[in-house]
Amino acid sequence: MKEKHYMYNEKIKGGNIGVPFIKASVVYFIIGVSMGMYMGITNHFSFTSAHAHINLLGWVSLALAGLIYKLNPAAGTSKMALVHFWLHMIGIPLLTFAMVLFGMGQFEIGGPISGIGGILVISGVVVFAVNVFKHVKR
Ligand code: HEM
Ligand code: HEM
Repeated sequence: MKEKHYMYNEKIKGGNIGVPFIKASVVYFIIGVSMGMYMGITNHFSFTSAHAHINLLGWVSLALAGLIYKLNPAAGTSKMALVHFWLHMIGIPLLTFAMVLFGMGQFEIGGPISGIGGILVISGVVVFAVNVFKHVKR
């Protein structure tokens, strides 16, 4: 069993991707709750969408993926996990930044940015789902 785990860790540089996912998630958690507090204090509820997605995509989804990868080394050390990581590391900031722009009324710039970010995020979710079906075993 131990040997097998070592073998999986050889698959991608740096071993299991779960840890970087979890570390990224707590950064979003700090940004998300700070933004919530700012919105509550200043009554800037136009940023609700950005706040919701920073917390739910950034904190909750990344932390969940990180835990799933840590619990399942075959999934967490596969190439697909690395692809998922970068799709979300690029896509989530683009999508949530676009939501901030929407909150400021900047729809023309926000539109294309949210489009690209959204496609990257959805692609990451699909890669994640395929990885889970392929590598997460009982
Ligand atoms: C100190 C922590 C937090 C504060 C002060 C805070 C504050 C707020 C505020 C002021 C709103 C706007 C409500 C409105 O537009 O009517 C909001 C919305 C929201 N927050 Fe937070 N929040 C916090 C943490 C979180 C966390 C950790 C999550 C998710 C894991 C979260 C998820 C949401 C969601 C989904 C909405 C939108 C709800 C809706 O559409 O009705 N928040 N939050
Ligand atoms: C590619 C990914 C996603 C896109 C493009 C997206 C897009 C959107 C849009 C356009 C809205 C409406 C915002 C508004 O009315 O101002 C929304 C609302 C919402 N979404 Fe998402 N979403 C995504 C992923 C998620 C995920 C993964 C979650 C939860 C884990 C989530 C939770 C919510 C919630 C709670 C709301 C209502 C609160 C709000 O006003 O923002 N979304 N989303």
